[in-house]
Amino acid sequence: MARHIELRVAEARPAGPGIRRLTLRDPDGWPLPRVRPGAHLDLHVPGVGPRAYSLCGDPSVQDAWTVAVKLEAESRGGSTWVHGLREGDPVAASMPRCTFPLAKGAARHVMIAGGIGVTPFLAMAPVLERAGAGWTLHLLHRGALPCPDELARWLASGRAVAHDTAVTPRPSLDALLGPWQPGLQAYCCGPLAMIDAFEQATAAWPSGTARAEHFVPPILAPDPSARPYTLVLAGSGAAADVAAGGSMLAALRALGTKVEASCEGGICGACKMRWLEGEPIHRDRVLTPEERQTHLMACVAGCASERLVLEA
Ligand code: FES
Repeated sequence: MARHIELRVAEARPAGPGIRRLTLRDPDGWPLPRVRPGAHLDLHVPGVGPRAYSLCGDPSVQDAWTVAVKLEAESRGGSTWVHGLREGDPVAASMPRCTFPLAKGAARHVMIAGGIGVTPFLAMAPVLERAGAGWTLHLLHRGALPCPDELARWLASGRAVAHDTAVTPRPSLDALLGPWQPGLQAYCCGPLAMIDAFEQATAAWPSGTARAEHFVPPILAPDPSARPYTLVLAGSGAAADVAAGGSMLAALRALGTKVEASCEGGICGACKMRWLEGEPIHRDRVLTPEERQTHLMACVAGCASERLVLEA
């Protein structure tokens, strides 16, 4: 069952071109649950549904969560609503989830951000700095900087390097990342084209040493080889027939199972479920190869066997 939390907008201010930064607090000033750097939370947009935003404040600040949201020209409702919020307004949010964690034990962290994709790295930076880790943030942007106040310290220290593609050629990700060597961990958050380039640049790296965070679910092409299957809930024994290419999430809802969902495109981690028997087809962008041995993302997963049993 999803857990939700009521918050208030404590501060709302501009943070770069078309970007609004919100500081959210408990209405009574209670500390908020601890978050991991790289986490995101869903804000529940009235009449629209949940919209996920990366937390960009220092995770050591326990009485406030911060998001920075760019007003999208083709907003599906979320960014327009955020930009209309005023100080004191109530906001309903999910508990934060972290599908983009820092790699424990890495000796060096290289981060590639595209524009507003800098937000999760703003939360990671103070954590890495306090830990004495080696890290570099490359921010590719066009024109004015996103979140300039939050970046100023890191730009001044040389930890962050801004590449303004309006005045210099776009650098190659191969050049920014360098060749993989033991202890190197890479991260990318930005538009889909940048993530595709990042995944190509790191395709030969060892599993888990290159992590990407998407803002927008990639469009999934229909699977021409999809077959119908029977979905079974291990707890109750309830079963549903899922048509070829049908939605597992819809089948779960039809069975009355409460499944948290946000992006419904395999990128946010909300609908993670444990599978017990069968042969799932994974089409998400969040689970690691190891996690796929036991879990799936119900919003995009399919099934290659006649029967799939979920722990539910
Ligand atoms: S709802 Fe986001 S991964 Fe399934």
